[in-house]
Amino acid sequence: MERLPGFRDFYPEPVPSRDAGWSFDARQFIFGKWREAARRYGFREYDGPPLEPLELFTTKSGAEIVGQLYNFVDKGERAVALRPEMTPTLARMVAAHERAYKKPIKWFALPQLFRYERQQKGRLREHFQFNADILGENDVAADAELIALLIDTLRSFGLTAEDFVIRLSSRNAWQEFYERGVRNAECGAEGAYQFYQIIDKLERTPPEESQKKLAALGFSLEDVNGFIASGTPTAELASIIANLAARGLGDFVKVDYHVIRGLAYYTGPVFEAFDRKGEFRAIAGGGRYDNLVKLISGGKVNLSALGFGMGDVVLLELLSARGLLPQFDATVDVFVLIEDEAVRPQSLKLIQDLRATGHVVDYPLTPAKPDKQFKRAQELKAGFTARVEGAATVKIRNLKTREEVVMAAADAPGHIAR
Ligand code: HAM
Repeated sequence: MERLPGFRDFYPEPVPSRDAGWSFDARQFIFGKWREAARRYGFREYDGPPLEPLELFTTKSGAEIVGQLYNFVDKGERAVALRPEMTPTLARMVAAHERAYKKPIKWFALPQLFRYERQQKGRLREHFQFNADILGENDVAADAELIALLIDTLRSFGLTAEDFVIRLSSRNAWQEFYERGVRNAECGAEGAYQFYQIIDKLERTPPEESQKKLAALGFSLEDVNGFIASGTPTAELASIIANLAARGLGDFVKVDYHVIRGLAYYTGPVFEAFDRKGEFRAIAGGGRYDNLVKLISGGKVNLSALGFGMGDVVLLELLSARGLLPQFDATVDVFVLIEDEAVRPQSLKLIQDLRATGHVVDYPLTPAKPDKQFKRAQELKAGFTARVEGAATVKIRNLKTREEVVMAAADAPGHIAR
């Protein structure tokens, strides 16, 4: 039986096949860094259901993501979908209990998301995403804070300003450009969404194709490229850059109007993180979405919001290409050797005491030859072996220094801790 295309198995290291580089250890490593960075910035963790009413996504995220939904009708005749992104769930959760939380709300999550995409480099049908969002703050100081978190998260993996850059742009600048140039004002929101989609894919589409699509809305590729080339920061973007520069993070950002974001709900400053060499797809993306909470709450709650999502797939590809993934080893503190089955009861007591004091302990579950046991201790990279000798004494051997000591069983946990 094969697994589904676009899904991953997470084996403990060493993984049977290194080609994808995936392992549960690598995943835990990435999650650990994500959580640490979020907590340093004072974000609190939340989660929501992986399955949501289909409608939560169909009206809010835009046609592109709707086309990638894993959706079905459940046994209660409800139209449901696996979450393709976290932001609508967050907006729903915050709107439901908005009064219970002081503003600004700073929350993060590490959801697994599902998108029925064409499988390619950096794109799978499930991925984990680090989401960090701030709700209830209009000032661009919040945008700068969020981008600083994004930068520091990537830096915590050992990546530097030579490895990645945050391309900063503005949905409102593009909105103005669109409104100035659109031939038929009746195109309305639908026309604007189509326009954003064309800009979002500009770098990946042949120019003639973009030209044709833009012309249908009354734009020329030349005007669009001219606007991108001007790269003049809006007042908001200038303020975000100054804020980041004050922290010493100025080298990590640049204004780049190629970025516009594919999702429909963004309203203000938007950004994407890319590797400098341009080998990979976006590592992360986000921005302001000041109308989404209002839309999802049917007008009941109005709360400004901004956030980003960083996927684990591109991040791992980048870390492994830059040699920044550590070696993941199974390690135990103590391997208890049971060479004489007569002392198995005393050995089990010793194992229990060692574990109770927080040590990682392993031992042979069934009778085994002494050399096999020792080999196993070495394979597990054990720091010590311990062997019960006599009624209440234990021989402990430090496998690095080869030093051996005999002591009362009760003293063993303290000795190993030291
Ligand atoms: P997004 O740009 O769709 O934004 O996804 C963010 C990141 O998730 C991407 O830059 C990419 O690294 C990763 N990603 C997306 N789709 C896939 C896939 N099929 N396979 C592997 N990785 C993928 C959002 O999802 C927004 N909800 C982020 C956000 C949070 N905006 C505001 N708050």
